[in-house]
Amino acid sequence: MDINSAEFIISNTDVKKCPTGTLPEYAFIGRSNVGKSSLINMLTGRNKLALTSSTPGKTMLINHFLINNSWYIVDLPGYGYARRGHKGQNQIRTVIEDYILEREQMTNLFVLIDSRHEPQKIDIEFMEWLGENGIPFSIVFTKADKLKGGRLGNNVNAYIREMKKQWEEIPPYFISSSESKLGKNEILKYIEEINKSLSQNNI
Ligand code: GTP
Ligand code: MG
Repeated sequence: MDINSAEFIISNTDVKKCPTGTLPEYAFIGRSNVGKSSLINMLTGRNKLALTSSTPGKTMLINHFLINNSWYIVDLPGYGYARRGHKGQNQIRTVIEDYILEREQMTNLFVLIDSRHEPQKIDIEFMEWLGENGIPFSIVFTKADKLKGGRLGNNVNAYIREMKKQWEEIPPYFISSSESKLGKNEILKYIEEINKSLSQNNI
């Protein structure tokens, strides 16, 4: 799929103030600093669309970007950033949870996992919570360019093995690098196919 237009629409903390209408949206979530905003820029080919930072906790709001005038990308704040303190973390958690549970337009949630690390409890528990709530999601293993040799494959396989302990069916997953653009075509194709199936169902 070609991205012909990508436009920032609105930022807010309240799911009720998100854009009205029925356009499908695809949201990006994961731990702070995992590379959500960078991935959005890579997918859209717009380097400055979503704000990125080497300091965790950059994205604090729900950010809507309108793509090709027909669907949205949503950049969400990261979870698990200890320096926000308990109160700050709880506030962000409420923003994220309300969005995920209440936003009917959300068609798929991409859960980003840093491919360099072993399975982390916080991510595993977050995905369990998604499962319990029937939220459709897929996984993106990020920062693949940072791993050399066979380590990337080993880490991804270890992750899938860990998930198989709990999940009968493993959700679709992608491997990405915002530096090398690895995963771009696959992720955009996946979104395009869901968009197509939605529009067919509406006819
Ligand atoms: P918060 O909004 O703070 O939750 O973070 P985020 O998940 O949006 O991460 P962001 O995209 O801001 O990236 C965090 C840092 O990781 C930045 O310094 C990025 O340049 C770097 N980064 C993100 N993706 C990649 C990647 O694929 N490869 C490499 N090498 N660095 C990356
Ligand atoms: Mg961000």
